[in-house]
Amino acid sequence: MKDRVLLLGGSAAVLVGVVALLAAAGVWRTLPVPGISKPVPLATVVPPQQTESTGKVDEFQLTVSRISWEIAPGRTVQAYAYNGQIPGPELRVTEGDTVKVAVTNQLQEATTVHWHGVDVPSSMDGVPDLSQSPIPAGGTFTYQFVATPAGTKWYHSHFDEVNQQGDGLYGPLLIEPRQQIQPQPDREFTLMTSQWQNGAASGRLAVPTPNAASGMGGMLAPNSAVPVFNTFTLNGKMAPAIPPLIVQQGGRVHLRLINAGATDTIAYGLAGHQLTITNSDGNPLAQPEVADGVSLGVGERADVEFVADNPGRWTFVALSTQSNDGGPGPTANRGVVGEEVIYAGHENDPLQDFPADANLHVARYTEFSGPPHPDPPTRTYDLTLSGGSMMGMGSETSWTINGKSYPGTDPLNVHQGDRVRIHVSNMSMEDHPMHLHGHTFQVVGISGRAVDGPIKDTLTVHPMEQYGLEFVADNPGTWLFHCHNLVHMSGGLMTEIHYQ
Ligand code: C2O
Ligand code: CU
Repeated sequence: MKDRVLLLGGSAAVLVGVVALLAAAGVWRTLPVPGISKPVPLATVVPPQQTESTGKVDEFQLTVSRISWEIAPGRTVQAYAYNGQIPGPELRVTEGDTVKVAVTNQLQEATTVHWHGVDVPSSMDGVPDLSQSPIPAGGTFTYQFVATPAGTKWYHSHFDEVNQQGDGLYGPLLIEPRQQIQPQPDREFTLMTSQWQNGAASGRLAVPTPNAASGMGGMLAPNSAVPVFNTFTLNGKMAPAIPPLIVQQGGRVHLRLINAGATDTIAYGLAGHQLTITNSDGNPLAQPEVADGVSLGVGERADVEFVADNPGRWTFVALSTQSNDGGPGPTANRGVVGEEVIYAGHENDPLQDFPADANLHVARYTEFSGPPHPDPPTRTYDLTLSGGSMMGMGSETSWTINGKSYPGTDPLNVHQGDRVRIHVSNMSMEDHPMHLHGHTFQVVGISGRAVDGPIKDTLTVHPMEQYGLEFVADNPGTWLFHCHNLVHMSGGLMTEIHYQ
């Protein structure tokens, strides 16, 4: 135990160093706009700023198609996939590398790819009609960007998200820091959880929405029945079809947790072990935080470590889920993740869960710390999130920011160089995982109290909570700031950031 504390102390120092390095990265370059299969109206997009490139180029190919995907033996869903697999392939690069991804669309409908958490140029951000024309059926588009900032990121469709992301178009994008944090863990696993629509387990046939090709690339779904995402998978499989994680006693294990779900916030925990949370949305915390569990809204990520010092066969589960599907009642189902962590040689041990009466500590944002944040902001916006249904049954599908639904929301106007503070209050009864495109932000206020909080790109604002978040307007373009709950997003909980 003593060793473990010392070890963590050492990596905390390195993490602080990395934060300082990131802050000091003041060298910028312009990225050329790469080749593109059809003309895109980008005349107003100012060339982006990127951190210094390593000069190394990493090339990938993603093919988007429909597939039948077996989430459990005998349970097949009609899905969308990158390269025929769910999640899509893990793209692993080094910070500062130039990433080129040729995306070929073999669907009968358009698609785009968004690089969630990466400060890409606006023209590479994958928002249909805002950053690019959608990739048409049969078309190819090559995304190109410099990989920054480092950390656990992900990619997903930003076109008709309820169906395309909801039915399989997502994958991990891992940007290794240029200077690796030492010592390296003994094992590393990427765990991406996702949710499937009502009836998926019995083979729901996903039908593209009728207006998927119109308007904002079909981001606004028709106001028909609210889809309910009630089937959960981990790395594309349902328990018990999820392969176990095999660990060696004494080893240090790094888990990259990604909530690629549709609607629900999930708290993850590993029975018999505490988790040391080192990064939030890929960004190092100033101090690692130890807890029984970590909660992630849709789109959020956490890097956690544990020391394999309790031999046996343990369950990695959702301690809780908060249903945010507008449907009746919480999913509140601990079994929804259902991964097993097995120590080598203990394959036949009984599976152990958390004690039923355990009083578990799930880490909160108030326990996450970041670097000291500088001076007052140059610009402040107050955003109140409301909407939804108090009557249940998802009859109300309108979600608002300051009383307006996208595309009618007021954009946030900023000037390059601004330090922009956004006060977000949630006056509704559901979680809103708010995601900012093209920038990372720092949590600088919680319930009206100033904090030096974590650096993030997605912040889950629970009912009646208030946060201050702040970003530097250093990436010109037009960007989205939206709730990542796919139903809320399609219900209008979205606005735009405009550089003046
Ligand atoms: Cu992860 Cu606008 O999305
Ligand atoms: Cu929301």
